[in-house]
Amino acid sequence: MKQAYIAGNWKMNMTPSEGAAFAKELAKAIEGTGSKVMVAPPFVTIPAVLKAAKGSALIVAAQNMANHESGAYTGEVSPLMLKDLGVNDVILGHSERRSIYGESDEVINEKLLLALKHDMNVVFCIGETLEERESGRLEEVLERQVRVGLAGVKGDQMKKITIAYEPVWAIGTGKTATPDDANDAHAFVRRVVEKLFSKGVAEATVIQYGGSVKASNAKALMSMPHIDGALVGGASLSLEQFLPIVNFDK
Ligand code: PGA
Repeated sequence: MKQAYIAGNWKMNMTPSEGAAFAKELAKAIEGTGSKVMVAPPFVTIPAVLKAAKGSALIVAAQNMANHESGAYTGEVSPLMLKDLGVNDVILGHSERRSIYGESDEVINEKLLLALKHDMNVVFCIGETLEERESGRLEEVLERQVRVGLAGVKGDQMKKITIAYEPVWAIGTGKTATPDDANDAHAFVRRVVEKLFSKGVAEATVIQYGGSVKASNAKALMSMPHIDGALVGGASLSLEQFLPIVNFDK
């Protein structure tokens, strides 16, 4: 198995002081862990978390960024600003960005190419809604999201990209895809990556599962052959819940 990549998406939670206190403890607690660990705080919380995590292995990422470098885009944050802070990782295409803020596959692709231009690592989220799954469109939706989202990406840039498969119906609902269903979706996504790039690129691509990952289901999910990590929302907000996920193999 590849090194597991466990990421915490804090969403709109954690003030700067809360985030700093949390990151300080998390950074200490993950010393010696076998997993790669990331947290994605809200933009304004990032500087405090970076400071708290300094010198540790904890990766600090943004939850989103603009599809432009600068200009008249009120309320947006550019990759140049993130890089200047020392942030080299960003989550793009989260389903909440897609469904609440109307981000299309094309806009997500623009952001992803811009992140690569600035040598950033991307956690690129995809996933189907319940209606799409129940109407038999799972594969069609995932294939479109991957093809359009990764358009223009070169094979050697895929090492900067982690794919997060997050079925929308499993996010924040307490419903988790069964390990087998999640694994099937991951295997399908890997086949699409193989078609777009190569077998070698597909095998090397880290694919995280996300959607109600918790301490009680992390081990079963992570033991599936195509699941290489987890993108965790709710359970990343407390050390009691997040650390057992990070240490799922202990
Ligand atoms: P959840 O969120 O773990 O709270 O379901 C996952 C996500 O949205 O990344």
